[in-house]
Amino acid sequence: MLGAWRGWRALRRCSSLPRAVRLRVRQALGAREPAEAVRVQGWVRSVRSQKEVLFLHINDGSSLESLQVVADPSLEKKDLTFGSAVEVQGKLVKSPHRMQNMELQAETIRVVGPCDIWSFPLKMKERHPLEYVRQFPHLRCRNNTLGALLRIRSEATAGIHSFFQDNGYVHIHTPIITSNDCEGAGELFQIETPREAKESAEMTHFFNVPAFLTVSGQLHLEVMAGAFTHVFTFGPTFRAENSQSRRHLAEFYMVEAELSFTESLQDIMQVMEDLFKTVTSTVLSKCPRDVELFHKYIAPAQKGRLEQILKHKFMIISYSEAVEILKQAPQTFTFKPEWGRDLQTEHEKYLVKHCGDVPVFVVNYPYDLKPFYMRDNEDGPQHTVAAVDLLVPGVGELCGGSLREERLPFLESRLQRLGLTDTYQWYLDLRKFGSVPHGGFGMGFERYLQYILGVDNIKDVIPFPRFSHSCLL
Ligand code: 4AD
Ligand code: MG
Repeated sequence: MLGAWRGWRALRRCSSLPRAVRLRVRQALGAREPAEAVRVQGWVRSVRSQKEVLFLHINDGSSLESLQVVADPSLEKKDLTFGSAVEVQGKLVKSPHRMQNMELQAETIRVVGPCDIWSFPLKMKERHPLEYVRQFPHLRCRNNTLGALLRIRSEATAGIHSFFQDNGYVHIHTPIITSNDCEGAGELFQIETPREAKESAEMTHFFNVPAFLTVSGQLHLEVMAGAFTHVFTFGPTFRAENSQSRRHLAEFYMVEAELSFTESLQDIMQVMEDLFKTVTSTVLSKCPRDVELFHKYIAPAQKGRLEQILKHKFMIISYSEAVEILKQAPQTFTFKPEWGRDLQTEHEKYLVKHCGDVPVFVVNYPYDLKPFYMRDNEDGPQHTVAAVDLLVPGVGELCGGSLREERLPFLESRLQRLGLTDTYQWYLDLRKFGSVPHGGFGMGFERYLQYILGVDNIKDVIPFPRFSHSCLL
C-alpha cells in the first residue's frame, strides 16, 4: 500500500513512467496528469460491449465512483463479467465525459477471479434495497450503499479519535471482559467456559469471580480520569437486550469520555455537542459523495436538516419540563407520563418533535431512576441527580451521561442502602484519595451513524449483521 502511494507521488511529478504504476481507483480518478503505464485492480461493476469498444467500470472500495476502462473488444473474455476480480493495465487519459476526470485505456485485462453471475446475489445496475442485501452479510460490502457506509464509518472512527486527541484526552483501552456490571447500565452477557456451563454447581469460575462482557467502560474510565484528567475509550460494548428493535444491538460500539475537575453538567453537554458537530463536519467534508448517496436515496431531507443542526445550539430542557410537555400533549401515550417514571421511546419521539425536530438535552432526572454513581443535585431530599440524555430525531437517545458523585459520605450512604458497599470498596477508594468533581458520557456509535445518515434500521450501519440470519458470520 505504501509503495502504491509512493508511486502515486512519483506519478504526480512526471507524466510518463517506464513501468506500470499500481494505482487505487480513487488515485486514478483524481489524477491531474495522464500517465502512460498504469495498473488498476478491482471488481467489475459493469461491462458494456459494443461493436467498436468495450467499456468496463472497476471498483476497489477506495471510492464510491468506479473507474471507467475503455478497451478494444478483442480484449473481452468469457469470464470478464460483473463481479469478477480483474487487473487492468494501460494508459490513464483525460476522459471526454463531463462526469469523470480520467479513464483507463486498457492494453491488457487479466481476470484474477471469475464470478458466476447467475448465482451471485448482486445484480448489475440494480439498486438493491438494504433489506435485500442484509441477507448476504458476506457479500453486501460490494454493494454501493454498504461500501459508502463502511467508508463513512471508518472516517467517523478516525474523526472521533482525532477530536479527543486534539483536545488533550488520553485514549484508554478499557477491558472487554470484566466483573463489574456498571450497575444496571444494561442486561449482561455472562462469560463461562463450556465446562463451567455443564458443571456450574461444583465449578469455581474461570476468573474466580463471575465475569461479563462489558456494558460500559465508565467505571474504568473514572479510575483513569483520576490520573490523566481527561480520558476516552471507544470500543465494543455488549448488552443482552432485545436486538430486534431498530435501535438496539447486542454488540455495538460506544464512545465514552470522562473529565476530571468538572463541576457543571453544562461542561459535559458542551463536549457532547462539540464531539457531534466536529465529527459530523469531518465526515461531511471527507466523504461527501458517500454521504450524498444516503441523503439522496435513503433519507432525502436529512442533508438540509443536518446543515441546520450544525449551525445552531442544541436545546436543553429539564426532565421535569419534559414531563409537563408530555402531560399537555394532545395525544395519548401507551405509557402515561408521570414524574418519577422513565421516558419511553414514544415520549422521546414526542419531545424531539415538540422541540422542532432538533437534538435536545434532557437534564436532571429523578434520583431513584438513575444508578448510584450519579451526583445528587440536593434540590430536595434525594430528588434529582445531575444526569443528561441527548435525544435526537428518528433515533431517540444518542448519548447518556452525568456528573458523578465525588463526595465520599453521599456515595457511602447510597451504596450502603443498596447493599453494595463491599463490591464497590475500590470505587469508594477513588473518593478517599484525591477525589475531584468529575463527569462523563457515552455515545452509541451506531445510533450516531443512523442519525446523521438517516438510516432506519441500526442493523444497516454495522459491517456484519450478526445472528440476524442463519449464517455463521
Ligand atoms: O445511556 P447508556 O446506557 O450510558 C452508559 O452506559 C454510561 N455508563 C455511559 C457513560 O456515562 N460513560 O449508553 C450510552 C449510549 C446510549 O445513549 C445509546 O446511544 C447507546 O449507548 N446504546 C446502544 N446502542 C445500540 N444498541 C444498544 N443496545 C444500546 N444501548 C445503549
Ligand atoms: Mg442511557
